[in-house]
Amino acid sequence: MERSMLGWLSFLLLIASASVDFTDAGFYDWKSVERRNLLANGLGSTPPMGWNSWNHFNCMIDEKIIRETADALISTGLAKLGYEYVNIDDCWAEISRDDKGSLVAKSSTFPSGIKALADYVHSKGLKLGIYSDAGYYTCSKKMPGSLGHEEQDAKTFASWGIDYLKYDNCNNDGSKPTVRYPVMTRALMKAGRPIFFSLCEWGDMHPATWGFNVGNSWRTTNDISDTWESMISRSDQNEVFADLARPGGWNDPDMLEIGNGGMTKNEYIVHFSLWAISKAPLLIGCDVRNISKDTMELIANKEVIAVNQDKLGVQAKKVRMEGDQEIWAAPLSKYRVAVVLLNRGPVRYSITAEWDDIGIPPSSSVVARDLWEHKTLKPRFVGNLTATVDSHSCKMYILEPVS
Ligand SMILES: *[C@@H]1O[C@H](CO)[C@@H](O)[C@H](O)[C@H]1NC(C)=O
Ligand SMILES: *[C@@H]1O[C@H](CO)[C@@H](O)[C@H](O)[C@H]1NC(C)=O
Repeated sequence: MERSMLGWLSFLLLIASASVDFTDAGFYDWKSVERRNLLANGLGSTPPMGWNSWNHFNCMIDEKIIRETADALISTGLAKLGYEYVNIDDCWAEISRDDKGSLVAKSSTFPSGIKALADYVHSKGLKLGIYSDAGYYTCSKKMPGSLGHEEQDAKTFASWGIDYLKYDNCNNDGSKPTVRYPVMTRALMKAGRPIFFSLCEWGDMHPATWGFNVGNSWRTTNDISDTWESMISRSDQNEVFADLARPGGWNDPDMLEIGNGGMTKNEYIVHFSLWAISKAPLLIGCDVRNISKDTMELIANKEVIAVNQDKLGVQAKKVRMEGDQEIWAAPLSKYRVAVVLLNRGPVRYSITAEWDDIGIPPSSSVVARDLWEHKTLKPRFVGNLTATVDSHSCKMYILEPVS
């Protein structure tokens, strides 16, 4: 019942969006995109990629960390792969506004101010993101929120050169997110600078069903932590809303924990594969100034990133579930299909993806590319593809039917 209502809603949105001309939004050729949401800021044609301070540093941030992270995104080559946003999370501001009511950077940790940081980050060809809250105080309670100050804060962010706003949901007045979040949307649209708007409302009121003209992404879950259970349950909760993601508006199961040490390498491969195929924002959450070779190998996998950034912009669904074995699939541009064979269980399984389940005609011959082995498999496959998958591991492929 709920599914079919959501289906209707997305159908109506497609009709509505088809008649709107967005050519003045700049930045991206929206005429080449078949599907899009209704927030006319021209941003988020593919899921955002970058870094955020929270998962690794929590409140222990300063301008030196932000600058060095921007440097590290360049020196590691991650920026070239698309990781462009450098996002400051909670705890960057003084607890009190200035005498004009404006937010001010915390003088002990951000003495040069946010404008200087934005200039620095922009000089590297990167973008700067910041954080506020649709309440009186942010979640840490160490800085003010923007409730009641939306226009002033949006103008401040634009004047500093901010490119991305993560907007949290703590310490609010008890009114609904559907009331509080659109106020900031309108303030940002009037602020004179395109700012990616990331709704962090934790999925409370299913923002996938109302975020289409409010934000460029919306959290579908509570905060992630660096464990297998947390990661896998967030990917499940996020999958339910797959039909409602589209270029310009993405479901967000929270930021990456890869590199923070709480999961095995195979579990982190599952994390990255599911986030990529789910068209989730790819926001690195570790210390990129001190990144290990293993972590780089995962988050710098160009073939997996290309699935996330595919311009068709369709989020994967679970197309088959049998006990601990799952098959996730999403169509890609050029009639290709991305597939994840996922083993959630404690022992190794053989998992088979059948063409019937993933939108490939049964008699089609398929070339399969293994995105983690970086190998094109031989021979071609007809009807299905079977792989042996270890416990808490996955295989990820692009399947391309050939005549
Ligand atoms: C760098 O990472 C290693 C683990 O990969 C860790 O042992 C070390 O403490 C880190 N250094 C800093 C400065 O965080
Ligand atoms: C996979 O397809 C082959 C034919 O190409 C067929 O013989 C086999 O039974 C199929 N396996 C499964 C598990 O469906």
